[in-house]
Amino acid sequence: MPSTPAPATPQDPATLDGLHRAVLDWYAAEARDLPWREPGCSPWGVLVSEVMLQQTPVARVLPRWREWLQRWPTPAALAADAPGEAVRAWDRLGYPRRALRLHAAATALTAEHGGEVPEDHAALLALPGVGAYTAAAVAAFAFRRRHAVVDTNVRRVQARAVGGAAEPAPALTAGETRLAEALLPQDPATAARWSVGVMELGALVCTARSPRCPACPLLDRCAWVAAGRPAHDGPAKRVQRWAGTDRQVRGRLLAVLRAADGPVGAGELEAAWTTDAAQRARCLDGLVADGLVEPLADGRFALPSS
Ligand code: ADE
Repeated sequence: MPSTPAPATPQDPATLDGLHRAVLDWYAAEARDLPWREPGCSPWGVLVSEVMLQQTPVARVLPRWREWLQRWPTPAALAADAPGEAVRAWDRLGYPRRALRLHAAATALTAEHGGEVPEDHAALLALPGVGAYTAAAVAAFAFRRRHAVVDTNVRRVQARAVGGAAEPAPALTAGETRLAEALLPQDPATAARWSVGVMELGALVCTARSPRCPACPLLDRCAWVAAGRPAHDGPAKRVQRWAGTDRQVRGRLLAVLRAADGPVGAGELEAAWTTDAAQRARCLDGLVADGLVEPLADGRFALPSS
């Protein structure tokens, strides 16, 4: 009977070393030139990029990130503007509460950290809207601190290369974080390059739908390839519908407010979604509850002023 090679054991230093070199060499040769990865990028630029990239592809983030950093090169610059301006500049990146969270983080950085992004993971985590992923990514990528950075791409590479499975678990598990920590090179700067290298490998080669295994630096060590690339055996991922959803309606309403110079009347918002008045009203209420829209005393609506 043919024997299935054992998956790479993270505890074995020689195996780990080979894994590190394979990914680091591949990254050095194949990584995209992205502005937030340049040595001169400020920690603030890294923080903004990580928040924007969490739910939006690189190609859509790039122009908005550049505009944002040009307009607000420091947290203090953003904090001095109204949160509504952040919502306006967010444009169509989606999940616009992220714009408000960045504004809140900029305000806290200005008030509590002298306008600087802190290096320490715990201090980053204490900022409004900064979760475990963003704190680890900023500590690692902006300050070369040694933290495991586990995004969806990293999870998929780990699931395949080490776990031998086509897809990771539906949501991040403690085991995945532990594995990422066990795989991390000891030297902090190397650990940061390893993390972004694994991320890039997941984005460019070990993709969800059509992995390009022949181009992969881990081809010879991949547990999933060794097992014959078995199909995913868990539940299928739900594909998010867009047309007709509350997300689409919220987007339409916000687009009207973004395009206007000042407050808009209820009639203009009504015209943005005529299919279902109850849905429109519910979505407008939701935007107000989220702080993305401010109802004015005269019955009009505006982007948030404070
Ligand atoms: N480089 C650093 N962080 C990144 C991210 N989250 N997505 C894509 N490229 C990155």
